Amino acid sequence: MTIFAVSFPRRHSSLDSQLHQKMDISMVTCTAPINIALIKYWGKRHEELILPVAGSLSITLDQNQMCAKTTVAWSSNFKEDRFWLNGEEQNINNPRLQSCLTEIKKRSPVTNGYKIHICSNNNFPTAAGLASSAAGYACLVAALSKLFKVEGDISQLARRGSGSACRSLYGGFVEWCRGLQDDGSDSLAIPVAPANHWPELRVLVLVVSDRAKSVGSTDGMRNCVATSDFIRIWAEQCVPQQIIALKKAILDRDFATLAHLTMKSSNQLHALCLETYPPVVYMNDTSHAIVRLIHAFNDYNNSVLAAYTFDAGPNACIVTRKDNVPELLALFHHVFPSSSSDAFVRGIQVNEIPKPNLKIAEKANVQVYPNSVRYIIQTQLGEGPKEVDSHLLSDVGFPKGSN
Ligand code: DP6
Repeated sequence: MTIFAVSFPRRHSSLDSQLHQKMDISMVTCTAPINIALIKYWGKRHEELILPVAGSLSITLDQNQMCAKTTVAWSSNFKEDRFWLNGEEQNINNPRLQSCLTEIKKRSPVTNGYKIHICSNNNFPTAAGLASSAAGYACLVAALSKLFKVEGDISQLARRGSGSACRSLYGGFVEWCRGLQDDGSDSLAIPVAPANHWPELRVLVLVVSDRAKSVGSTDGMRNCVATSDFIRIWAEQCVPQQIIALKKAILDRDFATLAHLTMKSSNQLHALCLETYPPVVYMNDTSHAIVRLIHAFNDYNNSVLAAYTFDAGPNACIVTRKDNVPELLALFHHVFPSSSSDAFVRGIQVNEIPKPNLKIAEKANVQVYPNSVRYIIQTQLGEGPKEVDSHLLSDVGFPKGSN
């Protein structure tokens, strides 16, 4: 944490005594990662506390490719709490933001009563439909906890912003435990294994072209809990067993089991969505073509070498090992050719993309779908939030570049 005193610039020596006022300001900046659930979170048993009907388990992605960055500051000179996101001022009275702030203040030993300024950015396009709220709330809570000197578990605080955010507070493989307490005190994230436990793992994020606005995950899961006949069986029977099996597969580095469980969990989430009344549809034709391609790829190789997983949108995350990336990229290039001059593969680069194996595309019964995947981000597992020195707020506490 940086605590410093800033002097306003001296403009005229005779006015020095008036202008050379000291401004006390404390500022902290953190970055935080995206996470992708392998065993999905879907449905709350308490809306306000954000308590899930079942546990979930995710991988944290490398911040070099995608991360949120947040600066928080307090000062005796600030007149009111203020919040800027991706360059635009937002309503600070957003109930989930307020819920995080209230909980942080309750746990903080600091009682100065100063107003705060918050400024947050994502280094990836929000339009890509990636889990920006998870990274955003994890980052906010990580930074505020340092500013407010909050000790102990802070995943419960991030959970109050967005359920999946609690998992972004650790690197590697992370479980969000369902918990049993009504007050949510045991519904928190715990690390299962660090990122370097399985360094060969890679994730390909396929950003699918889709302009249709779908139902947000908060509303989608609320309708599901209210109307689905299947969600109870899924939450009580399927998920607990899947989490036990996935933790073992992670510790044993058993890729085939990890991949199988990942695809099952994604399919179960989308089955629950279809069984919601009225149904909610997140995957589109491109998503389904990707599913068929991955199954054909695994069948052709007689081994489970890749897994797909889809959240509340059509984008796919493909989990695989480093050695299989070039062949998968070749297939995606072939089936989803792009006419854009922008880079198709972003993030970690491969030396050479081989010729596609057309037999796999044929086996998958897919056509060629030009421009239906906008681009692919290759990334890997990474670390949890970190504190950095480059702030988004100026020395007097306003977004840099604004007046
Ligand atoms: C499909 O965490 O966005 O990505 O708790 O209402 O903010 P709220 O929902 P959110 O839901 C994420 C759902 C998911 C699956 C997952 O990440 O586990």
